[in-house]
Amino acid sequence: VESSRKLANMAGEVFTPSAPIDKHSLFAGRTRQLRKVVDAVNQRGQHAILYGERGVGKTSLANVIADNLSVPGGRLLMPHINADTGDTFTSLWRKVLTQITLYNSRNQAGFLLGNTWHHQDLTENLPETISTGDIRKLLAPLATNFQTVVIIDEFDRLPPGQARTMMADTIKMLADHTAGITLVLVGVADNVDELIAEHQSISRNLIQVPLQRMSTEELGQIITNGLGILQMTIEPGALAWITFVSRGLPHYTHLLGRFAARSAIDQSVLRITMGHVAAGITEALGDAQHTISDAYHKATDSPRKDAMYRKVLLACAIAQTDELGFFAPVDVRKPLNAIVKREKDYDITDFHKHLNEFCEPKRGLVLEKRGVSHRPRYRFRDAMVQPYVILKGFNDRLLTHEVLATVNPP
Ligand SMILES: Nc1ncnc2c1ncn2[C@@H]1O[C@H](COP(=O)(O)OP(=O)(O)O)[C@@H](O)[C@H]1O
Ligand SMILES: [Mg+2]
Repeated sequence: VESSRKLANMAGEVFTPSAPIDKHSLFAGRTRQLRKVVDAVNQRGQHAILYGERGVGKTSLANVIADNLSVPGGRLLMPHINADTGDTFTSLWRKVLTQITLYNSRNQAGFLLGNTWHHQDLTENLPETISTGDIRKLLAPLATNFQTVVIIDEFDRLPPGQARTMMADTIKMLADHTAGITLVLVGVADNVDELIAEHQSISRNLIQVPLQRMSTEELGQIITNGLGILQMTIEPGALAWITFVSRGLPHYTHLLGRFAARSAIDQSVLRITMGHVAAGITEALGDAQHTISDAYHKATDSPRKDAMYRKVLLACAIAQTDELGFFAPVDVRKPLNAIVKREKDYDITDFHKHLNEFCEPKRGLVLEKRGVSHRPRYRFRDAMVQPYVILKGFNDRLLTHEVLATVNPP
């Protein structure tokens, strides 16, 4: 009993659905993307911008950069801050400078991140408003002693306009004049334009690192890494289910990994089966973020028993998509007909209305619509809602083998 309680706790440490990875040992895949960022750090005049959907693993990747540099820990300064909707260029850099505390004792120039009893506060004597020139004056002396990597996360939250333009100017100026400093901007976006409209003028200095959803192999690695530490295993079919449901979003892989492992541990077995995954799904639904379950209910609630919202949304969630997650109405037809099992098949015109309603505030804007009006394409506005819809469908027994056979079955 004691050891199984321990193991269940450990499952909570290796599978962390709500926290970014901060240990390289738990970080799966992303080799190419990580290499690009590390190259940017190692090349003079290069900076990096890391972008992708919410929950694809941007912060986690930023967290493991340090482990992949050949700089000794004491020679690396790596402030990592989050931008906020209320930030200006000045407040953003104040946060960065607050995280860099220089240790200033006699002939030693060490540093500490966070508080220290003997330090030089870089935010002392700062001008009321910070200019790009101030940034260079402050950072250039640091860069002679330290490799400095400034990570600005949640960059999408920074209001468009002046602050972002000045950040582009900063990159240009640092690239022209200062070695040893790398900016890494991180944010939710489909493309770099959405984050920095001025990127063309700095394209030579800015390495773009789009972070797509994770591949089935990478998601599988998350599970096998974690289970390796727990000294547990999983049946291939059960693993395939977890990766299928995750839709490339590692949050769900961690969520299901955690609950499936615990369900097996509770039965005193060390090999996870489909039954454990199914039990894990029920638990995971109960543990989902409220914003996500609320979005689901807003999208699908209806007083009419025969309403189709739940089924159409499920068909959308498993439909074949392009790289950016968009699908066409035609992609929804097959899975939907397998879900409803009706004598006469539904045609696109029968569920067109539902798709469009999903794009309205009344249904919480669960989908967004792009493309020309006669060839619309849709996708989940919040990527994290999509796997939840599948988990719901599984739990409500709508997601049968026949339904899965219409898409890419696990
Ligand atoms: N490469 C990875 N290996 C293992 N788990 C990951 C990886 N990338 C992300 N995760 C997990 O996925 C979830 C979301 O990651 P996070 O970095 O917070 O995404 P983002 O910053 O893009 O929103 C977290 O639970 C995190 O632990
Ligand atoms: Mg993040």
